[in-house]
Parts: sequence; C-alpha cells; structure tokens
Amino acid sequence: MRKKVIAGNWKMNMLPNEAIDFIDKLTPLVKDTQNEVILCVPYTDLFYALLTAQNTNIKIGAQNVHWEESGAYTGEISAKMLKSIGVEYVIIGHSERRKNFFETDEIVNKKVKAALANGLKPIICVGETIEQKEAGVTKKVVTEQVKKVLDEIKEEQIENIIIAYEPIWAIGSGKTATIKDANDITKEIRDEICKIYGQKASKRVIIQYGGSVKPENCKEYLNASDIDGALVGGASLNPEIFAEIVNN
Ligand code: 13P
Repeated sequence: MRKKVIAGNWKMNMLPNEAIDFIDKLTPLVKDTQNEVILCVPYTDLFYALLTAQNTNIKIGAQNVHWEESGAYTGEISAKMLKSIGVEYVIIGHSERRKNFFETDEIVNKKVKAALANGLKPIICVGETIEQKEAGVTKKVVTEQVKKVLDEIKEEQIENIIIAYEPIWAIGSGKTATIKDANDITKEIRDEICKIYGQKASKRVIIQYGGSVKPENCKEYLNASDIDGALVGGASLNPEIFAEIVNN
C-alpha cells in the first residue's frame, strides 16, 4: 500500500518567526498521523524550519533548486547546498515557476537529476492550462510532461520522486478538478510510468493532486484509488486548517 503524502507549499509567504510558530502549532496536531507530512518553505525559512521540526514527523522541503552544483549563478541555490543543511524534499517545475520564470520541461528535468544526484526527493509538478483542458488535450499534455521531466531517470530512482498533478486553472482559483478527472489523470500518469519503468515502479510512485485542496474536499481526493496525497497551497498557511487535511 502506498502511503499518503500531504505537502504544503507556502510559496512566497511566512517569515522565519512565523515559520517557527507554525511548526510549533502543527507538531502536536499531526503527531499521530500515518501520513507523510511535508512543508515546502521559502529558502529564508529553511534553517529555522529544519531546527523547529527536529524530532517531529514533519519533513522540510524547498520550493526550487538550481541544476548545477556550484558556480557563477548569482542568486541561485544548488541541491548540494539544500542537502548540506538537511533539506529532504524540493518542489520542481511548479507552474508558477514555469510561467513566471520560463522553466521548460528540459530545465525541470535537469533540476530533477541534480536533486536526485544529491539525495533530495523531488516533488515534480505537471498540469494543463485551461486552454489545454478546453481543447481536450489534458492527457496528452500531462503524459508528454511526465515523459520529458523523467528523461534519463532510472527505475530505481522512481521511488524517491513524487509527481504532483496540478491543473493550472485550479491553483489558487477555488476551482477544482472533479474527483473522477483528477483520479483519471493521475492514473494516466501512473500508466505512463508503467510504460517507461514497468509495473513495480508504477505501483510504488507517489502521485499527488494539487489545486484548491481544502479540508472540505480533501477526503474525496485522498480516497480516490490513484491519488496518493495532496500538494496544498493556500490551505497550508494555517496550521489548524493544514492539520485537518493531514488528518483526513
Ligand atoms: P492552492 O492550494 O492555493 O490552489 O495552490 C496549489 C499549489 O499551487 C500547490 O503547489
């Protein structure tokens, strides 16, 4: 049985003191969960979050990473740097980065390789635009993305990655994919993994749904056969609300 993985993506929110306060409040609320709990926080919060989450079941992730290990890349942070302070996860290829910072599937693939090479677990985001959804090409778009971002990734590395299916039109909009649509696309992603890596890998890989997940709708997503968790934006900014999702 695959475990459920609930990850919060704080995006560009939370100062260090707020991060510490949040984790202190969240810790007792999620201490008994069987689910994996991850908070992907801004770079400036990472160290404080890691210290505060020590000896808890809360894992800490970053929201981006550069593909090179070091060098003349002003303003960038490498996988080696993240690993060196104890970061475990990193979101790669979020649609906000694809849109605002022009990240392509090829760039995402380079980042995934760098993350894995340095022992970080990537949470790789894929998803269609509203135009692609309306044109009926969601499955094609998403499976193409999956193929490209996993290019040259080996079968034994698949168990260290999480794929997050986030329809772009559902992010921060209050609109959500129907449970059936979300589960169908998630299954399509799993089938694609099966085609590339075989059944064992496809049964193991964790695939999350993301896009306006809240306490009111999370249960149905988490109970769907192929959805193994959620990547939560807005609702991860309040510890009580996020804990409700984790405990559902
Ligand atoms: P919302 O939950 O705010 O829609 O954001 C989803 C998201 O982008 C998580 O990565």
